[in-house]
Amino acid sequence: MSSDSAISDGGEVVTPAEFRAAMADFASGVTVVTGLDAGDPVGFACQAFASVSLEPPLVVFCADHRSRSWPRIRRSGRFCVNVLGEHQTSLCERFGSSQGRKFDGAEWSLTRWGTPALPDVLMRVHADVNQVHPAGDHDLVVGRVLAVERIAEHRPMIFFRGGFGLGTAATATRRSGPPRQGVLSTRPTTSEA
Ligand SMILES: Cc1cc2nc3c(=O)[nH]c(=O)nc-3n(C[C@H](O)[C@H](O)[C@H](O)COP(=O)(O)O)c2cc1C
Repeated sequence: MSSDSAISDGGEVVTPAEFRAAMADFASGVTVVTGLDAGDPVGFACQAFASVSLEPPLVVFCADHRSRSWPRIRRSGRFCVNVLGEHQTSLCERFGSSQGRKFDGAEWSLTRWGTPALPDVLMRVHADVNQVHPAGDHDLVVGRVLAVERIAEHRPMIFFRGGFGLGTAATATRRSGPPRQGVLSTRPTTSEA
C-alpha cells in the first residue's frame, strides 16, 4: 500500500470513517428534496441524487433511515427535487440540519404537482415515489418524473470534501479525520462521505 492509499485495498473492510473520507473526493451538486405531508411542507438537503432512465424518465435519491422527513415524503407518495445554486448555502444549511422546523420563515410555494417549491433554484424535478429499495442504512428511492422546471441561470452549488465549492480543491489533502474548521459537519450519511 503506498502512503497515498489510505483507503483499503483488496479484501480489507473499509471503516465508515475511511469510506466517508474517500467519498468526500467525489464532488457533487446539492439538492433539497421536499414533499407535502398532511398539509405540512417537509424536506432535507440531499446530494445523493441522479437521473436513472430517460424512457421512462426516472430519478433516484438516497435517504438516510434516520431522516425525519423521508418517511413523511414517502407517505405522501410524491416529491420535488430542488437543485441549489452556489448562492444558497444558508438554505442548504437549514435543510441539512436536524434542528428546528425547516420551513418556518422560509420562502416556498405550492406547485401544481402538490409539492413545495423553493425559489431561485436552478431547476426542479417533480416525481412520484415509484420504488423504494432498502440499501444498508439508507433507502434508495426511485422516482417517476412528472415534470421538470428550469428556473434560473446560476452557478450550481458544489459540495466537495465536506465544504461548499471547489475553492480549496487544489490544496486540499485527503482527510480521514473530522471535517475542516468552517465547513459543514452535519452530513451523517454514507453517500456524501
Ligand atoms: C450538503 C449535504 C448533503 C446531504 N446529502 C444527504 C443525502 O444524500 N441523503 C440523506 O439522507 N441526507 C443527506 N444530508 C443530510 C440531511 O440533509 C440531514 O441529515 C437532515 O438533517 C435530515 O433532515 P430530516 O431529519 O428532517 O429529514 C445532507 C446534508 C448536507 C448538508
